[in-house]
Amino acid sequence: MKILVTGGAGFIGSNFIRYVLREHDDIEVVNFDALTYAGNLENLAGLEDDPRYRFVRGDLALESDLERGFGEGPFDAVVNFAAESHVDRSLHMGADRFILTNILGTQLLLDAARRSGVGRYVQVSTDEVYGDLGSEGVFTEETPLAPNNPYAATKAAADLLVHAAWHSHGIAAVITRCSNNFGPYQFPEKLIPLMIANALEERPLPVYGDGRNVRDWIYVEDHCAAVDLVMRRGRPGEVYNIGAMNEMPNIEVVQRILKYLGKPESLITFVKDRPGHDRRYAMDASKIRRELGWRPRFSFEDALAATVEWYRTHDDWLRHVRSGEYRTYYEEMYGGR
Ligand code: NAD
Ligand code: DAU
Repeated sequence: MKILVTGGAGFIGSNFIRYVLREHDDIEVVNFDALTYAGNLENLAGLEDDPRYRFVRGDLALESDLERGFGEGPFDAVVNFAAESHVDRSLHMGADRFILTNILGTQLLLDAARRSGVGRYVQVSTDEVYGDLGSEGVFTEETPLAPNNPYAATKAAADLLVHAAWHSHGIAAVITRCSNNFGPYQFPEKLIPLMIANALEERPLPVYGDGRNVRDWIYVEDHCAAVDLVMRRGRPGEVYNIGAMNEMPNIEVVQRILKYLGKPESLITFVKDRPGHDRRYAMDASKIRRELGWRPRFSFEDALAATVEWYRTHDDWLRHVRSGEYRTYYEEMYGGR
């Protein structure tokens, strides 16, 4: 099987590439990534010489780049992780790049996949497309789309385009919607890695609002296993929610991190809330459990402890990301190739 993975230099994409290369001998992966600020080839260090892996630098929102990417095919499947993924950036730095990559990029990728006759297309989406959940209930695949921030709005638009490509053109497209991921190689602008990084340096831990917003956490490897299953056996035209039933208020997540690291709670600093901050997300993943037999393998407690330990012992990776040094890695590794 040969697959095109977009956004494979980011957090989840790089974990996915490592996962499929480890789990399947008979797979070849082309990683197509623009290397934005969130794309870091150090996340894939060690794979450069694996004959089953190849990197192509390219922008999803440019047809000529996509042509180069698909020139590496033919592919049995395309898995689209590439996105502008950070809610706060979409709120504070403008949504134009989100529209280009997440909406236009998805459409151009669908078109290219159709032209080249790809057998399967997986769109990696998010629970944020469902908007805010009250204090009761869970999101199912039938919950109406009601995104509340620019990032989520662009992801919802992309989901509709994927549905339309399946409905109108018969592309064998499947959508996954997952809850909040954590684990190794996550850019330290997101809650868990940011809090670990700040706690390690004994800098203030900025908690938005009252810290009682609830997210539903999943270890990244469980998400990767689910996407792999959907890529192989998901039914075209369907949506699959992915979540591990780990709802927790942000403040509790932060307190646990401090406890693992033996740092004082006095580092917690409550700061001005995110505008329009969704209060609660929670996923019903019974469909993927029932249809594809997926189950999360990692408990939240063990996975969070392992993640804290990973950041503690990967100070070089963290230092390179925080200083911007990771950007030179591409030239070092690929400059002469
Ligand atoms: P990330 O920001 O860590 O990585 C995104 C990757 O996409 C980067 O490598 C970046 O260089 C690449 N990219 C961005 N724009 C591109 C473009 N125009 N062309 C090619 N590559 C481009 O994101 P992540 O957290 O790994 O999320 C991956 C996907 O999973 C996203 O689609 C996101 O919406 C979705 N998702 C994320 C989470 C989460 O908790 N992080 C949860 C559910 C779904
Ligand atoms: O729910 C899935 C989504 O999870 C993905 O689609 C997004 O790509 C991903 O970025 C993530 O979005 P969130 O906004 O939920 O993640 P973030 O880590 O930015 O924030 C998690 C919670 O923590 C949220 O309630 C805001 C809060 N927060 C975040 C940061 C960065 C803080 O309190 N302080 C912070 O400094």
